[in-house]
This record gives sequence, C-alpha cells and structure tokens, in this order.
Amino acid sequence: MSNVTVIGTQWGDEGKGKIVDWLASRADIVVRFQGGHNAGHTLVVGGQVYKLSLLPSGLVSGKIGVIGNGVVVDPQALMGEIERVTAQGLVVTPETLWIAETVPLILPLHGALDRAREAARGDHKIGTTGRGIGPAYEDKVARRAIRLCDLAEPETLEWKIDELLLHHNTLLAGLGAETFTKEQVLSYLGEIAPKVLPYACPVWDRLDEAVRAGKRILFEGAQAVMLDVDHGTYPFVTSSNTIAAIAASGSGVGPKSVGFVLGIAKAYTTRVGEGPFPSELFDDVGQGLGKRGHEFGTVTGRPRRCGWFDATLVRHAVRVGGVDGIALTKLDVLDGMKEVSICVGYELDGKHIDRFPSSPAAQSRVKPVLETMAGWNETTAGARSWAELPAQAIKYVRRIEELIGAPVTLLSTSPERDDTILMKDPFEG
Ligand code: IMP
Repeated sequence: MSNVTVIGTQWGDEGKGKIVDWLASRADIVVRFQGGHNAGHTLVVGGQVYKLSLLPSGLVSGKIGVIGNGVVVDPQALMGEIERVTAQGLVVTPETLWIAETVPLILPLHGALDRAREAARGDHKIGTTGRGIGPAYEDKVARRAIRLCDLAEPETLEWKIDELLLHHNTLLAGLGAETFTKEQVLSYLGEIAPKVLPYACPVWDRLDEAVRAGKRILFEGAQAVMLDVDHGTYPFVTSSNTIAAIAASGSGVGPKSVGFVLGIAKAYTTRVGEGPFPSELFDDVGQGLGKRGHEFGTVTGRPRRCGWFDATLVRHAVRVGGVDGIALTKLDVLDGMKEVSICVGYELDGKHIDRFPSSPAAQSRVKPVLETMAGWNETTAGARSWAELPAQAIKYVRRIEELIGAPVTLLSTSPERDDTILMKDPFEG
C-alpha cells in the first residue's frame, strides 16, 4: 500500500497540519480533496510558521501540491496565500501546484450570502467561517457553479453569471444584503482569470499517471468526520463530506488508491462554531486546556471550546471513516493534570447509550459518562520514543485505543515536525 489518506476524527483542528507535513516529506504528491479556505493548517518547520488554508501542506516540503475537484476554490484567497508563502521562501509554480480544471469557484457573492444567512439565523446560527463554503457547494450540486475551466470561455461566463445572479441577488435582496451586478462579477473574474488559469489542469489524468508510476500520494483531508455533511453533527457541520472515501471522488482516482487511512485525534476535544459537544468543559479545567493548547481558530481566531477526549465519537469516526490507525496529538497539553477523564458513553433521558444519537434534539440532551484516571506530572513534550513517556500517559493512550477500536500508530508530542513517535509507518500499510 503506497498511499495514505489523512482525516480528522473530531471537529477539526486536531493538528493535521503537522502530521500531514511530516508525512509529506515521505510522499511525492500531496492532494487536497474537499473543503476550501475554511480549513486552517499551521505548520512549524525549522522555527518558521506557515499558515495554510487552501494550499496543500506538501508544498512546504517541496512536493507537488494538488487541489482536487472536490475542493471549492476562492481565487482571491488562493492568490493571497500563494503571495504569502512565496514571501516566506516557498516556490509555487504550475509545475508544483496543480488545480483541477473542474473546481467550483467561490466568488464574493458566496461569502456575502453565507454571512447574511448566518446573521438572519440568530440563535440558530451554525457558526460558519463566513467564507462562502456552503453557498459554493450548493451552487455545485445545483449545477450553476462557475468552474475554473469556465474562466477561459468568456461566452460561457456571460450566461452562467446571469443564472448565478438571478439566484443569488434574489436571496441577497430578500435578506436585506447588497446585491451584485453582472459587470462587477465579470470584471472580478476577468482580473483573476490570468492569475489562476496557469495552474488549471486535468488533475485526474496526472494522478492516474502518478498512480501507475507507483508514486506515493498523500491525500490531505480538511475539517473532520464530526463536521461531515452526512456523518457529522448535522446541521452544525461543513458542506462537504470529510471521510476518507471522498479522497477518491474528490480528486478523480479510483477508491483503491485511498490506501492507509490515518485518523488524527487530539488527546482531548475542541470545537469551534456552534453545535453539540457532550464532553465540553465550562470550568477552569477547560480553560486550562484552551490556554495550554493555544486553542484559537487558525482561520477566524475564535477561541475553541474545550473538553475531555470523547472516545464514543472517535469510535464512530473510526468506523465511518474507515480509519486504520490513529495519530494522537497534543498529549503534552494534559501534562501536570492531577486527573484526566475520557467520555466513554452517554446518558440520554435516563438511559445509557454507547452511540451518539442522530437527531440534533437528542444530541443536545445527552450527558457524558466519564471515566477518570490519575494524570501524570512528568512532561511528555518533545518525547521521541515510547520509553520516554510516563507510565500513566501510556495507560491513557492504551485505554483510548481500547475504547475507539483502532491502534495509535503515531504520537505527536510537540508542534515541531521531528517530535513524533512512530509505531507504524502508514506508507508501509
Ligand atoms: P463552514 O465550513 O464555514 O460552512 O462552517 C461550518 C462549520 O464547520 C462551523 O462550525 C465551522 O466552525 C466549522 N469548520 C469549518 N472548517 C473548519 C476547520 O478547518 N476546523 C474546525 N472547524 C471548521
């Protein structure tokens, strides 16, 4: 098995950036297959901090980065990110960045609609990143999206913009937001087209060649299983599928190419945005996790909600995500805690359940059932071998493995690329 697919198993921000970067150094090609610039990956390499939203992390290791057809691309955000990383010394050219010709574009009107709808939702808001992700995916399935390849076809653009504005201006006007003119959209696209079109290519064809040539491909997921539009805490989710199966359709390779599925899980749980979170902590313990773990959204800067590790949710993610092994991150944030707890199930209306319910009403009523064990005083930060870990921390990790039904194949002990304990090389299958 020569390919690896990385997905988040909680509500995102599990520290995928570091793991993907570490794996990218062993891959030939790194592919993003869903989501957009709602994702935020922070990579720390050699003391230099890279903040990526849309660009595949592999570009930091000098590998080919691919944006597959399952991603929604905001061309302005893309160009801004390319400029930023170029100023940091990375080389991004059409040889190193391939973007599927068929990606739907996120336009300023998508962000405007996202924000206007959130404002209108009031107490029922989803807490989106406000970047137009949902409206862009809606346009894709409604078959009115402007795709990257359309930028080279001015005649197609003309009628597509008419159709797009008919829909969006009606909604924007209804919500009391500013509408857009055809001239505005045309001039925006005219300006952006020569900048992004050089990166456009038939990604599926190039990846097919790469698969046949035995190249190592790393598929880099964004968000996480609990934010998956089908399997997550709907409607408090993102608008794409985030599970590993989508790596294939979101980049145009066959399902067998997905390879080893590595699920990333933080040693505790965080969430940004609204929605249920059974093991959330509202006390000093939760605040301590947030402080020590520097839990602020990479994209929006919002403080993340913090809570105990929810083994029931991660087990769910392991099953629907097809996870072969877990990379456990940020164990060091628990260092020095007298006691640590794991959510091992729920109580719903007086009954014990070991599966998260599907309806939002029931999801908001569940109470966590916690299992508590002694913590550890020693530091795990920077450990590079299992032997360097305190016995109690090992016990915590072993209990997690037992509860989620998947082995911890990788342990990350600091944001630095090399502070990683590898139990099994995912590229070896
Ligand atoms: P959207 O993807 O902007 O529509 O936001 C929908 C939900 O997904 C909100 O709760 C966001 O906070 C959450 N979300 C989107 N992207 C990320 C991410 O990369 N990390 C964590 N949460 C995310």
